[in-house]
Amino acid sequence: MAAMRWTPALALALLACGDDPKATPDAMTDSPTGMVDAAPDASDPNMPRTLAETGLCMDAACTQISPLAIPYTPQYPLWSDAATKKRWIQLPPGTKIDTTDMDFWEFPVGTKVWKEFTSGTTRVETRLIMRTGTGTTVNDWFYAAYVWNEAQDNAVWEELGAVDVLGTQHDVPSKFQCRTCHENAKPSRVLGFSAIQLDYDNTTAGELDLADVVAQDLLTNPPTGGQPYFPLPGDATARAALGYLHANCGNCHNPNSQIYTNDQTQMELRLTVGTLGALSTTPTYQTAVSHPAKLPVGGRNVIVAPGMPDSSSLIYRFESTNPAEHMPALGSEVMDPAGRTMLRDWVTSIQ
Ligand code: HEC
Ligand code: HEC
Repeated sequence: MAAMRWTPALALALLACGDDPKATPDAMTDSPTGMVDAAPDASDPNMPRTLAETGLCMDAACTQISPLAIPYTPQYPLWSDAATKKRWIQLPPGTKIDTTDMDFWEFPVGTKVWKEFTSGTTRVETRLIMRTGTGTTVNDWFYAAYVWNEAQDNAVWEELGAVDVLGTQHDVPSKFQCRTCHENAKPSRVLGFSAIQLDYDNTTAGELDLADVVAQDLLTNPPTGGQPYFPLPGDATARAALGYLHANCGNCHNPNSQIYTNDQTQMELRLTVGTLGALSTTPTYQTAVSHPAKLPVGGRNVIVAPGMPDSSSLIYRFESTNPAEHMPALGSEVMDPAGRTMLRDWVTSIQ
């Protein structure tokens, strides 16, 4: 499968990625991804080569998770072609997450977050994001995918990713692709362990939700009140769509992304806690609903045309099989059928 195939949209997204001062347009020459391998993780012998070395597990086969790695689940997960996922976070003992900006949490140096992907019953890869430095550039973060072997007893770092692993249709992204999504949500980088994503009653035993994070005193500036601290406005149809767009699109479409700062489009699909008073005040409504498309496709000139999904460029792009137009620009090759219904129902419902 060619999930991470080269497309114009991907080219733009990749060019938009990272804030590495060395990755100037001049330097973006020969690499097929349009990005320069300037970060120190490339061949750094100190970086963990196997999943076991990252500290997630007590054994190489990772049948026993370290008690320091705490599981959680974001309320609006990223669609990744129907793979099943598990996630864990580990903060260095005694540290807190800096939540001065509730919309962009800053994680302490040494933070590790893992995400394991299972296809059917086969573990295919486990990803790691680790904050390695005190600075604020891509060089202070380590992104790695550890690909599982057939025996399911070892997973090894593959910097450049892998295609159709273990006979499944699952593709593992390269570290450049990790950055395309995660480096567009600076300074946080961590996308699913956030105020809005944790703000629901997670009843799975042992999993953290926002109330647990507050109770454990892990935030420098905790929210006040109770869960949900930041309820989304609107009816169930609107809330589902806003959450879906936040998780699947907002990582690239937000004001801290270079897609925005380079003025490719000013559309924002990432929610912020201070704009949830009414649907009309959310970034999604402010910048997409009834807004002209900067980059119209398929003759659709409006991003979200109220009541008219077939006239909305957002719906057209979501459903398009043309890689130059399809959204999300990276991360899935099969359109999410539930996401499609959710978005269409929402656009139809807007008056
Ligand atoms: C298409 C965009 C995209 C790409 C490419 C991508 N990720 Fe993510 N990743 C996300 C989103 C969105 C989340 C949060 C939602 C979730 O967990 O389902 C996430 C979650 C994670 C998490 C859990 C912590 C967090 O940020 O919420 C880890 C670890 C992770 N990704 C690592 C990686 C690594 C390593 C790569 C490259 C090998 C990678 N990701 C590629 C979008 C992406
Ligand atoms: C990996 C980064 C990335 C993700 C994730 C992503 N996009 Fe985009 N999007 C882009 C880039 C880059 C452009 C501008 C280039 C282009 O037209 O393809 C863009 C453009 C758009 C536009 C055109 C806006 C305008 O002003 O005309 C729409 C609509 C859009 N995206 C919708 C979405 C939706 C809906 C999702 C989630 C389902 C999504 N995008 C996820 C990178 C991304």
